Amino acid sequence: MRLAILTAASSLLMALVAAAPAPAPELERRQLLSNVLGEVADLVDGISTQATSPAQVWGELLTALEKPTATATPTSPAQVETALASIYSATPTNLIVNAIEMVQNSLSPSDLNDVLTTYSAGCNSEVNINLRSPSRTIFPKKAAADAPYSLSEAQLRQVIQIPAGFTYGRVPPVVLVPGTGSKGCLTFRANFIKLFQGSQVADPVWLNIPGFLLGDAQVNAEYVAYAINYISAISSNKNVSVIAWSQGNLDTQWALKYWPSTRPIVSDFISISPDFHGTVLAYIVCPGFPTLTCVPSVIQQEYDSDFVTRLRLTDGDSAYVPTTSIYSATDEIVQPQQGTGASAFIKDARGVGVSNNELQTICPGGLAGSVVTHEGVLYNPIAYALAVDALTHSGPGLVSRIDRAGLCQLYAAPGLTVADVVATEGNIPVALAAIALYEPKVVVEPKIKGYATY
Ligand SMILES: *[C@@H]1O[C@H](CO)[C@@H](O)[C@H](O)[C@H]1NC(C)=O
Repeated sequence: MRLAILTAASSLLMALVAAAPAPAPELERRQLLSNVLGEVADLVDGISTQATSPAQVWGELLTALEKPTATATPTSPAQVETALASIYSATPTNLIVNAIEMVQNSLSPSDLNDVLTTYSAGCNSEVNINLRSPSRTIFPKKAAADAPYSLSEAQLRQVIQIPAGFTYGRVPPVVLVPGTGSKGCLTFRANFIKLFQGSQVADPVWLNIPGFLLGDAQVNAEYVAYAINYISAISSNKNVSVIAWSQGNLDTQWALKYWPSTRPIVSDFISISPDFHGTVLAYIVCPGFPTLTCVPSVIQQEYDSDFVTRLRLTDGDSAYVPTTSIYSATDEIVQPQQGTGASAFIKDARGVGVSNNELQTICPGGLAGSVVTHEGVLYNPIAYALAVDALTHSGPGLVSRIDRAGLCQLYAAPGLTVADVVATEGNIPVALAAIALYEPKVVVEPKIKGYATY
């Protein structure tokens, strides 16, 4: 009797299980989208957690970035460090949440509602008139072994901004390459541009790559390859140097690899917060990925993406020219970023000269080696001193030649103000807004180009 009841009960259960509806992907999707927005709605009033499409989620995230009003204004670089240390004290899972906290702490421009327009004009213009013709043929190819460009020469040349006062080789030219979600002037105006312009050390030009570098990184690399050859060719064929930030380093390394004509004319490659191995945190800028879509170049910067894997193949993880890599173990976007396993760590299989410089190892206990963000390396005093050292000696920058003890006590390079530090930090909220606005977003990375076979 008892057995019969049990049997009946269990077959009822079986029937219930069989009748249960199959997992509803649409409901799960909505739940995930609403979870993504929930974290943001906790921080900002009036954000709806009900979204049925990725486009709606990105719209709400953008609104959340635009809404907060700043409640505190830092008055010294050290106060910026304190605010950043508190914002990034936990391992970030959703960088949009951190970016909103940066807005609340005045570490952001106040005009995030129209970033695509705001940062496409003036010194960030993608359309520049560069009339000087190169002194030798550099397009469609400078050397037979160079990869083919997918862009026209006009497209490649117009993104280069050459400021008034550029000396065309009297002072050594340096090409500044921005990072994901940014423009050349936006990235560098409050650090390297400000410090180098008018100096005898380096004469900066910068690249305003279309799409805020959010499109295919292989195409972004084409702009770098062309700019190296063009700037040298209009500067009496003198060598140039390259300073890149973040993804700009992957693009530069890709350019050096697949456009070998660039290698003999680059004196120094100075890498600020590079992610030569991508980052295990790629998707903190795309919460909910792959349910929520993402921008192509972020998917390409996933730790083991096809793009990163191809770049590193055949000693692509080794320097092609003297390379000075400078990075922070507390990078909130690129991880791992410590020791020989750091994404920034570059090898030297070709014996061209490399220095790998982790700020926390160089300045233990010092402000320059405290909580330094991905963007903070751009204004870091050790980073600037190493860049100057590299540019004024042959081979990479060396810590043994700089005033390590003195510089470790500072949070920003001498000559930079708290306003410069804040302006540089503003790259992150701007990048997040640019990511929210970028279309088309995708779920798989762009195909590797046909030329990249090695
Ligand atoms: C130009 O750069 C190449 C490659 O780094 C280097 O070997 C060469 O010495 C540089 N030339 C000058 C004049 O600095």
